[in-house]
Amino acid sequence: MNDKGISVLCIDDEEMIRWTIGDYLEDSGYNVFKAEDGKTGLKMFYKTKPDIILVDLMMPEVDGFEVLSKVKEVSPETPVIVISGTGVIQDVIEAIRRGAWDYLTKPIQDLAVLEHVLNKALEKASLIRENENYRKVLEEKVRERTLALEKTNNQLRANLQETVKALSVMTDKRDPYTAGHQKRVGILALSIAKEMGLPSEKIEAISIASLLHDIGKIYVPAEFLSKPTRLEYEEMEVIKKHSFMGYDILININFPFPIADIVYQHHERLDGSGYPLGLVSEDILLESKIIAIADVVEAMSSHRPYRPALDVEKAIGEITKNRGKTYCPECADAFFKLYARNSEEIKEIFK
Ligand SMILES: [Fe+2]
Ligand SMILES: [Fe+2]
Repeated sequence: MNDKGISVLCIDDEEMIRWTIGDYLEDSGYNVFKAEDGKTGLKMFYKTKPDIILVDLMMPEVDGFEVLSKVKEVSPETPVIVISGTGVIQDVIEAIRRGAWDYLTKPIQDLAVLEHVLNKALEKASLIRENENYRKVLEEKVRERTLALEKTNNQLRANLQETVKALSVMTDKRDPYTAGHQKRVGILALSIAKEMGLPSEKIEAISIASLLHDIGKIYVPAEFLSKPTRLEYEEMEVIKKHSFMGYDILININFPFPIADIVYQHHERLDGSGYPLGLVSEDILLESKIIAIADVVEAMSSHRPYRPALDVEKAIGEITKNRGKTYCPECADAFFKLYARNSEEIKEIFK
């Protein structure tokens, strides 16, 4: 008979059984290891790593239950078939509970039945192995795809940041008197958001929106922006349109955050005195409330065509006066805390 390349470990304290089963299986092409008790059986199992185990339940010292438990512990994928001579169903149930794959009762009338049970268990073991391999291959593929997606995502994110920066610089460059305004608002707004412990998506949204919050000013005539004297009412009304114009420019860009809305609301105030919609506190996005504070601090701390630079303390005075009235109190407090800790660093932003 051709060698099947399958090894069977047969553990039974009855010599007659060992030889009967062994001879039959060897004749059918299996390699059979025979052990006369549980202890020897376990030793052989560790040494030969058989494809399948046949084990008697009632044996002196180390019985079949113990063999089962040990095999299950070390190699749960190895099929174990119990050969029970006791005829007590509880023993069979206990054996199955401990991980036996199948059972046969002694005396085995027809060894072809034993071979059938053996093959069934081996087939099942091979299917489990195939499934396991398939699962591993799939997991590896998912891991590779996830890594590739992450890489693409990071590239897209980096491109987005660079595009946002380019747009921001373009707007800032248009007005030499407020050059770098959005960049400085960006630094400040980001620090406030971090101080407030906001989640990373909100922080990223604030970082993008603050760099673009005045992009709508490209529609405002340059002479209005750099006018050395106070603006007339009509001129002011034109400038006020920049919130909507910014929204209009950004609304069709598919940002992962509501950037257009944040920009739209950056001049809204808690008490409804802001523009363009006169929204009140609960209707204004938190991101816009944070940018509003950074915007006013920047505007008051930097030089303007119609007045020299004031200082951060003046801006703090303005925010303190209107904390909870026009400015979000939590955002204001976060800024105060930040300033109390890093006043020099913040002043440095405006130099
Ligand atoms: Fe603005
Ligand atoms: Fe601004």
